[in-house]
Amino acid sequence: MNLKQHLEHRISQALAELSGQSDCVALVAHSKSPQFGDYQANGVMALARKLGKNPRELGQQLAQHLKLDDVADKVEVAGPGFINVFIKPEFLSDSLNQLDRARLVAPVAKPQTVVIDYSSPNLAKEMHVGHLRGTIIGDAIARTLEFLGHKLIRQNHFGDWGTQFGMLITHMRELPFYSEGKFKAELSDLEGFYRAAKERFDTDEKFARLARENVVHLQAEHPGYIADWKKFIDISIEHCQELYQRLGITLSEHDIRPESFYNSRLPQVIELLEQNNLLTESNGAKCVFLDEFRTKEGEPLPVIVEKTGGGFLYATTDLAAIRFRCQELHAERVLYVVDARQSLHFQQVFRVAQLAGFAGTNCKLEHLSYGTMMGKDGKPFKTRSGGTVKLVDLCSEGVERALALVTGKNPGLDAAALQNIAEVVGIAAIKYADLSKNRNSDYIFDWDSMLSFEGNTAPYLLYAYARIRSIFRRAGLDPQASYMIKVEAAEEKALALKLLQFTEAVESLAEECLPNQLCLYLYELSGLFMKFYECCPVLKAEPGVQQSRLGLCQLTAITLKQGLELLGIATLEQM
Ligand code: ARG
Repeated sequence: MNLKQHLEHRISQALAELSGQSDCVALVAHSKSPQFGDYQANGVMALARKLGKNPRELGQQLAQHLKLDDVADKVEVAGPGFINVFIKPEFLSDSLNQLDRARLVAPVAKPQTVVIDYSSPNLAKEMHVGHLRGTIIGDAIARTLEFLGHKLIRQNHFGDWGTQFGMLITHMRELPFYSEGKFKAELSDLEGFYRAAKERFDTDEKFARLARENVVHLQAEHPGYIADWKKFIDISIEHCQELYQRLGITLSEHDIRPESFYNSRLPQVIELLEQNNLLTESNGAKCVFLDEFRTKEGEPLPVIVEKTGGGFLYATTDLAAIRFRCQELHAERVLYVVDARQSLHFQQVFRVAQLAGFAGTNCKLEHLSYGTMMGKDGKPFKTRSGGTVKLVDLCSEGVERALALVTGKNPGLDAAALQNIAEVVGIAAIKYADLSKNRNSDYIFDWDSMLSFEGNTAPYLLYAYARIRSIFRRAGLDPQASYMIKVEAAEEKALALKLLQFTEAVESLAEECLPNQLCLYLYELSGLFMKFYECCPVLKAEPGVQQSRLGLCQLTAITLKQGLELLGIATLEQM
């Protein structure tokens, strides 16, 4: 139990004893300012209202009745009945000294099987910025849940099926280099290849007809067509894996479960929907009508699962995927880190899956949506010429900019060392800029602010970490040794409390899947460290105090490193 939960439990219990009511909630939160203590319980007012009592009096009684001496040195009633709790320095010292430094946060008591669907780009084209957010945010969530001991099953739901692939293999087959097997080189620019195929499809009628025929062959899984399709897919997957590697994304080839995987399972989905009386024919298409989904005008809004004349849809595949994830992978929680624009789609398929019994009540389906990446002009992020920005180019630009920056700061370092630092800083800046914003809103992509050494940015945090490491290095001290912490000064106390709250930050990320909260925590932690380091001399302090302060430095470094690792960001010993 983390400190917040511990207080919630104890204060709720005291409220129950005092009032004779069984369902009391203490409503513990972090205090907004130090004068109101460290934690605040806000549940007294509601309870007083319910009992018809004066809230301030009830608060006073509670403060008397509460026995928090082991944790707090002061419990105060403020305003109309807020309970302010001031945590004792001794409690902080003891708790920090007892922390397991290898992981800081205990694994969960009841691990769950969690399926997480993220990144999932379409393989017809090259990965572009539209996939960046989901990939980065999804990876941080996956890493955190896994760290807490849950069984994570990553599913990269690649879009590798559908009419576009008929067009692509038609183009592929007609190129002179096709027979010579040289197309791998040609496909190094997937984007250009796609554009060329599309251009022909739109202008050349004969080509378009052939492409449509090839889709039919492909969907009937005729071996020659499947072989060509597979050649294309393999190259496209290679592109993605290279990017994942550069970005430090934990998705591997084992996590690939693309749309095509579900192809053979789609007829059964239709059959089961039929058996559950969920299907309605509408203009020859098979649809599920749900009462709760209507257009703005109040017209029924169907989920189409089979087109007129045959052929399945995106929704049909997702229904098959839910069934697979719940029934064969035995997921207790399925997370979809997908663009907010697909939110209606997920509401619909989740509802159909529940009605059809594909997802039982023991399987929770959650769409973790995210907003669009915008340029500085407030419009969706594009290249200068208005094209989509390729992720490879974005990474390279980030690293180049970081190189200019770190070269300016460290003129003494050799080229290889600088390049190494730039790679870490550039990638970290791109990832952190995204992670540190609430995923629900759109966000503005801006090189200057993400590469700044001030504010809630990757360079600021990486610098804070490297600075602590250099304290140990310069003094020739062992950063691994065990240092006894004894919290005394106010700045020490503030830092110690924050360090103890790391568990709360990680656990709340696992629950709400909002990485920006962990970012904010790390940023605040670094700020408190800087304040502590300014006010409390470390190496110049007398031996006992020095020990304790080194302990706080050490723990801050470990916490920063662990926190950044959960976000998928590498640290540097020197920068
Ligand atoms: N391939 C889709 C796209 O790029 C995202 C797939 C998300 N996952 C899913 N199960 N539908 O828009």
